[in-house]
Amino acid sequence: MKKALVTGGAGFIGSFFVKVWLKEDSRISIVNLDKLTYSGDLSRLSELQGNSRHSFIKGDICDPKTVRKAMQGCDGVVHLAAESHVDRSLLDAKAFFDSNVYGTYVLLEEARRAGVERFVLVSTDEVYGSRSGKGYFKEKDILNPSSPYSVSKAAADLLALSYVGTHHLPVLVTRGANTYGPYQYPEKVIPLFTTNALTGQKLPLYGDGRQIRNWLYVEDHCRGILHALKKGKTGEVYNISSKTELENIDLTKKLLKILDKPENLIHHVTDRLGHDRRYAIDSSKLRSLGWSEKAKFDTAFRDTLLWYCRNEKWWKAIKEKQEGFTKFYKKAYAGR
Ligand code: NAD
Ligand code: TYD
Repeated sequence: MKKALVTGGAGFIGSFFVKVWLKEDSRISIVNLDKLTYSGDLSRLSELQGNSRHSFIKGDICDPKTVRKAMQGCDGVVHLAAESHVDRSLLDAKAFFDSNVYGTYVLLEEARRAGVERFVLVSTDEVYGSRSGKGYFKEKDILNPSSPYSVSKAAADLLALSYVGTHHLPVLVTRGANTYGPYQYPEKVIPLFTTNALTGQKLPLYGDGRQIRNWLYVEDHCRGILHALKKGKTGEVYNISSKTELENIDLTKKLLKILDKPENLIHHVTDRLGHDRRYAIDSSKLRSLGWSEKAKFDTAFRDTLLWYCRNEKWWKAIKEKQEGFTKFYKKAYAGR
């Protein structure tokens, strides 16, 4: 592949993905298409200034003309653009179905027209729904998503796979676990709790805090997507997860310990509606193709928190703007 379209490349994972790919593959050129919604931010890409193998287009994946132009000359697509926050989807799901489902449809149609040689859809472990007990979902398990966010991702995921049989589009899908690292928008639990702790605010832990998530370092997730793109087969799905499973309460206590902040900052609040208890996927299929995570959780987690300590300017500006949303969100929740 010589030239690829990456969507959502100004987002948290997308920006790392673009940087990882450009570093690992000296022949690739990337066209980065991103709408710059509230969570998109070009400062994540500042180190690419002057890099002739990267070009940025501000635009919406729901607009066929924009997508057609951006895809010109591309032989591959890696699709990460999405509305990505479960809590927002509980308040208003429209943007999730517009961007995540309709936007994916537009990309698939344009990729078909352009005749690309690879289309990777970046999906999530949340499409399987909650896994009780100790088992792990495998790629062939049925999907049972439970939030408007995960339903929109499952719809996109299955729609993309349907293009393999119907239109012979060389699609493959990755389903990644909860991802953490620098530059994550401070609405997801790790950056939210870190920045709250650093500013002396409470950490709103939903319900009993015993929900379990698998934590995957962002660069490992990106290397996993790239590995699937290069070694994976058309029509296949690849789970990407680490070996670190933690209850939210334990994650929160670790975070406070590293930041040297007291546990009384933890504030148990009303549970998230339809809160999935445990996400758990088996990534042996991708591992059998030679991928494995490099990050050790304790080190990568500590380094991530230190990054937020050192980059206050970045998240403080966002948190100030976000204030309005948080208040609106709390009010909407209180009314239920
Ligand atoms: P993010 O919210 O940080 O980034 C999403 C990006 O998509 C933003 O830059 C935004 O501007 C862009 N975007 C949204 N709608 C768009 C549209 N209509 N047109 C063009 N651009 C648009 O999200 P993220 O955490 O980086 O997630 C990236 C992808 O990875 C998503 O598809 C998400 O579902 C998936 N994923 C995320 C996680 C996680 O833990 N964060 C885990 C597994 C999979
Ligand atoms: P989040 O980062 O939103 O990711 P996801 O919902 O995709 O797993 O949340 C991770 C876990 O943390 C999830 O179980 C919900 C919980 N959580 C809280 O307890 N409080 C919060 O304020 C947030 C944002 C999440």
